[in-house]
Amino acid sequence: MISRSTVDAVFEAARVEEVIGDFVQLKKSGSNYKGLSPFSDERSPSFMVSPVKQIWKDFSSGKGGNAVSFIMEHEHFTFPEAIKWLAKRYGIEVEETQQTDEEKQVQDDKESMYLVATFAAKWFNAQLETEMGSAIGKSYFVERGFTKETIDYFQLGYSPDAWTALTDAALAAGYSLDYLERTGLTIVKEDKKFDRFKGRVMFPIRSHSGRVLGFGGRILIADKKAAKYQNSPQSEIYDKSKVLYGIYESKQAIAKEDLCYLVEGYTDVIQMHQAGVKNVVSSSGTALTTEQIRLISRLTKNITVLYDGDAAGMRAAIRGIDLILEAGMNVRVCTFPEGEDPDSFAKSHTQLEIETFLKDEAVDFIKFKSGLLKDEAAGDPIKKAGMIREIVTTIAKIPDSISREVYIRETATILDIGEDVLFSTLAQMRNASENEERKKDIKQQQQKAFTKVEELPATAPVDRREILESTIIKILLLYGDKVADFEEEFLQESEDGELVVEPVKMTVPVYEKIYLDLQGDEIEFSNPRFKNLYPKLIDIMLLSGRIDVNMIMTELSDEEAAMIADLIMGEDRYQLHRWDEKQIFVKTKEETVAVYVMDTILNFRRLMIQEKIKALSNELTTNENVDATDILSQVKDHINLQKYLGSRLNRVV
Ligand code: CTP
Ligand code: MN
Repeated sequence: MISRSTVDAVFEAARVEEVIGDFVQLKKSGSNYKGLSPFSDERSPSFMVSPVKQIWKDFSSGKGGNAVSFIMEHEHFTFPEAIKWLAKRYGIEVEETQQTDEEKQVQDDKESMYLVATFAAKWFNAQLETEMGSAIGKSYFVERGFTKETIDYFQLGYSPDAWTALTDAALAAGYSLDYLERTGLTIVKEDKKFDRFKGRVMFPIRSHSGRVLGFGGRILIADKKAAKYQNSPQSEIYDKSKVLYGIYESKQAIAKEDLCYLVEGYTDVIQMHQAGVKNVVSSSGTALTTEQIRLISRLTKNITVLYDGDAAGMRAAIRGIDLILEAGMNVRVCTFPEGEDPDSFAKSHTQLEIETFLKDEAVDFIKFKSGLLKDEAAGDPIKKAGMIREIVTTIAKIPDSISREVYIRETATILDIGEDVLFSTLAQMRNASENEERKKDIKQQQQKAFTKVEELPATAPVDRREILESTIIKILLLYGDKVADFEEEFLQESEDGELVVEPVKMTVPVYEKIYLDLQGDEIEFSNPRFKNLYPKLIDIMLLSGRIDVNMIMTELSDEEAAMIADLIMGEDRYQLHRWDEKQIFVKTKEETVAVYVMDTILNFRRLMIQEKIKALSNELTTNENVDATDILSQVKDHINLQKYLGSRLNRVV
């Protein structure tokens, strides 16, 4: 784990406008900066950065947060990855906590292996400029239609046809044979050693953050005995089930297009990129794994699988697809014309032609599979029964029940079978797998509770209560630690026993005023978006006495952080606009804040009272065993309170 002090140092050093400035061209706009959103294709800038509050907000995508969350969002990094990236940017040393000597050794070993792999990738690439490398390696790539830019972008290379060319170069540069062997670059047998990729063109395989993990090497001569591709063996840094070729080069485009094309091989990825279709990755010849799907699902929920029309390829592709459905993703498939694959097709067509083809030809997987099975089982009742089971097995994998239902209906139409047959088959299968699922669920719940990631409804209906709750949150974030004068009223007993209203001036921080007033009325937030946020903010302020939005964001979930940025930036845009509308004249900003706070609190309290009155009257009409006199007297008290709050509101505003 990264130490707390490293995280703090990064937060201290990283200026949101600098970090974002590396990726987005920012222009000054009032106290903020403005730019074109890096998360969508927009023409007029709606991406705002506040150097004062150290936050950003993208009005086109709804995303927002601080410097760290920007890097997470933009580079698709996890939190530790983002911290490490920023630490590097600002020259901060990353301190890892709780590492035993053994863990440190593993860490150091891995680091050394990354370094060797990076060296090798650069060295292979440089060989393309040597006489031999150019004549053999480079001309091969040129023959395939790759441009110089493409070769450099994918860091393609050539491994000379000599026994120890790379090994010698690496040893001479100071890398140890141990790490050369452990990365699989060098094969060591007793006292002999030689280059694994001798005489091949090289495709470095990079992690999603861009580190070289391993290689694919393609043979150049037609040799029936040797494999066409030689890949790095499994190692501490290369696990082929966890990487996707092209993920580093394509992740931005995948997120932007909200779609990932999945192809079979290295050359398919490269050729499509060169043609301008950049949201494409390859599982490099193997069946897709859950880990690979997870890599994609961080970027998009939509996958289109592309493969050539031969039967073997189709069967293999179909097997992997159930896993994708299980992950809750939407899968489409696209078949290429006889004899074509994405590589050849991309080579001979323009970007527009490719995009049009993919758009027109991609079909929903379930429909595709139903159609395929229907053809196979035509006129054969036994095959037909098997087919029903097979297609329902696939549908049963989909986690979302509504999607399952939609698919069952569509499949029934395609196969011309009664829906009820399919539904009952589905029910049987789901029952069988339910126990297992329940176990999984419990585990997931435990993990969820641990990470405290909450799913917030995307769109909640906007009501008065929601507006007031969001205003309170907004006030806390913007003015929580400002000290203001509040005109309070206390009920006092006068000498002749009458209750009189005594005005008192209170000078306290805004958060304290809000906290005490709302607590006094036992008001609780009800909107799921703010319910947990409110006590969190209050806690932070009670503890530290101040509000630092940038720091607070680290304690919140992504959704909460984005929402906060939204509230604050939105407010900046409109500058207490409600007050302009109401034509209220206040002398100072402090006065405005005090009035704003009081108005909100009083309105909130009045709304609570209204709801309470409604609930009480409801009880009176629906519950026969209720003590009517008691309820009525409660209603009367509340109506009085309501009147009082109403009159105070008139005086405040
Ligand atoms: N593959 C592999 N090992 C092999 C054959 C194939 O790892 N012996 C993987 C590679 O990732 C390859 C993919 O499977 O890119 C698809 O195989 P294939 O269609 O044979 O290769 P292409 O990439 O199309 O290569 P080329 O066009 O150069 O023949
Ligand atoms: Mn090919």
